[in-house]
Amino acid sequence: MCGVIGYVGKGASPEFFFLGLKRLEYRGYDSTGIAMVFDGKIHVQRAEGKLINLHEKLQHLPSRANIGIGHTRWATHGRPTEDNAHPHVSGHIALLHNGIIENYREIKNFLQEKKYVFLSDTDTEVAAHLLHYEFSLEQKNTSHNNILAMKNAILNVVKTIKGTFAFGIISSLIPDVLFTAKYASPIIIGLGENENYIASGMTALIDHTKKMIVLDDYELAILKQDSYEIFDFQGNKIEKNILSVDWSAQMLEKNGFSHFMLKEIFEQPEAVAQSLNSRIDPIDYHVFLEELGIKNTNVLLFEKIQIIACGTSFYAGLLAKFYLEKFCCLTVEVELASEYRYRYSTSNNKTLVIAVSQSGETIDTLQAIKVAKENNAQTIALVNVRGSSIGRICDDESIMHAGPEVGVASTKAFSAQVVSLLLLALGFAEKRKTISKETLSCNIDNLLKVSSYIEKTLKESDKINQISQKLVAEKSVLFIGRGPQWPIAMEGALKLKELSYIHAEGFAAGELKHGPIALIDENLYVICIAPKDAYYEKVYSNIHEIKSRGGKIIAIGFEGDKDLESISEHFIGISPCEEIILPFLTSAVLHLLAYWTALNKGCDVDQPRNLAKSVTVE
Ligand code: M6R
Repeated sequence: MCGVIGYVGKGASPEFFFLGLKRLEYRGYDSTGIAMVFDGKIHVQRAEGKLINLHEKLQHLPSRANIGIGHTRWATHGRPTEDNAHPHVSGHIALLHNGIIENYREIKNFLQEKKYVFLSDTDTEVAAHLLHYEFSLEQKNTSHNNILAMKNAILNVVKTIKGTFAFGIISSLIPDVLFTAKYASPIIIGLGENENYIASGMTALIDHTKKMIVLDDYELAILKQDSYEIFDFQGNKIEKNILSVDWSAQMLEKNGFSHFMLKEIFEQPEAVAQSLNSRIDPIDYHVFLEELGIKNTNVLLFEKIQIIACGTSFYAGLLAKFYLEKFCCLTVEVELASEYRYRYSTSNNKTLVIAVSQSGETIDTLQAIKVAKENNAQTIALVNVRGSSIGRICDDESIMHAGPEVGVASTKAFSAQVVSLLLLALGFAEKRKTISKETLSCNIDNLLKVSSYIEKTLKESDKINQISQKLVAEKSVLFIGRGPQWPIAMEGALKLKELSYIHAEGFAAGELKHGPIALIDENLYVICIAPKDAYYEKVYSNIHEIKSRGGKIIAIGFEGDKDLESISEHFIGISPCEEIILPFLTSAVLHLLAYWTALNKGCDVDQPRNLAKSVTVE
């Protein structure tokens, strides 16, 4: 959702803020803005739409300033217009915000009585005026110690507002201090040489520093050029760990690919290899749970597993359920985080709850894991971003090591999630003695082959591009699969709809007869995932049922499967392989199919409409 960048130091140009916001573009946004303090005044430029519109206005900002903030807004309250774009100004203060202020109406009434004039429809402008009001009071209380007055004013504001927030605040009265405070929305502090930064994600800062501090909820930071202080919301000073980030700026480049999504699809073999790296013993066949980040979880204690996640991460969880149940002989429930958090939860101290999230910031998953913690469940975060909110709140943080994922559509993170969950399944089963040495070794051997199988599958990209051209004009497409391929069918449908805006649904093939088969006619394409696994015969029968009703079949199956090829309008072959390898290959095919369909349809592949990479509001 909203992107935040802030700077205090020896001097930064408007281009600095612009490039920082560019790094956050993938998060999804619909208006932008920058504020800088120069010559005792606040200078603001804002624009509707994409960053390119803001670029045209950079010349109206000072060419350099010691302090400034920049923002990409994903509209919640008020349309994505220039007036509603952040930063918002109240007198000498400029403020930006990521989050939602729920009680903004009552605060607005109060401020209007105090004669504050509102120029936007946003909840955020309320925070800017309230801060200005509180600052004026605190100036008197603190004998005009402006830094202390601003600190106290921010503490008053965060106590008054209800909702979620990450604020970036500058003031022309304090032109060398950058303030930030957060609850539920992320803020990272970057520490440089004679300059310090804030941002909503590490990616905005890795061009400048690898030293970062992750601000926790209920924390406020005061940053100067050469120092920083962090306080809790009671005003007490606190010490924080400094992280050393291992991502590089180069990882955030397209490296010759036309889109981040295509690059990330082609990075799947490496993402899987990185997720496996140093976590298994391929000679004595053992899973190193500690290397997977499992340090505090009592693996022998839990009697049930719940996986909570959203979107693609949810489908990775549904797929993992097959293997966790099979290897660990445990009940595994997979829940949408947005439902879990509002429902009566049966979790208790005998439950292991695994939160799966690429970003580690998804608000629904974050709030759901809090429910599990209240019920004394053991909690593991499976995340891609070290130091994320979900990672820090759980008992254990397992990093999936996919590398930064910039495309809004999750691709390589999906593969890394699946392989990490499979490792957890094997590691738990080994420790709980529910798996034979033979099954363990066979599965470890198979996981080691996944990367090279994906590489072979990606060679089908051109063929998939050609087939995708058939889908461009479609209004609706169905996907079917059975067993582990059912979550893949849903993942394929999600990708197609989010990227190309074609309605798509993924069904368990066995469910067709219970309703969806009514949709089949000679105009409908059905993507049938039918590798020769334990479910093949059944899916093959389902395909015949579709065929006999005139449905147009695009099948994904084993190379050389002439029967399947002959009943399909189009056939995409994958190399015959063990069952545990299959989901990686069929998902790679469907990721490519969604990519090429969207591209051929002229859609914005990396930033589909209305979507955000990191969903930090409900
Ligand atoms: O960062 P998370 O894994 O928690 O994100 C969850 C979903 O928002 C995400 O997977 C979303 O569905 C993707 N756009 C799918 O491609």
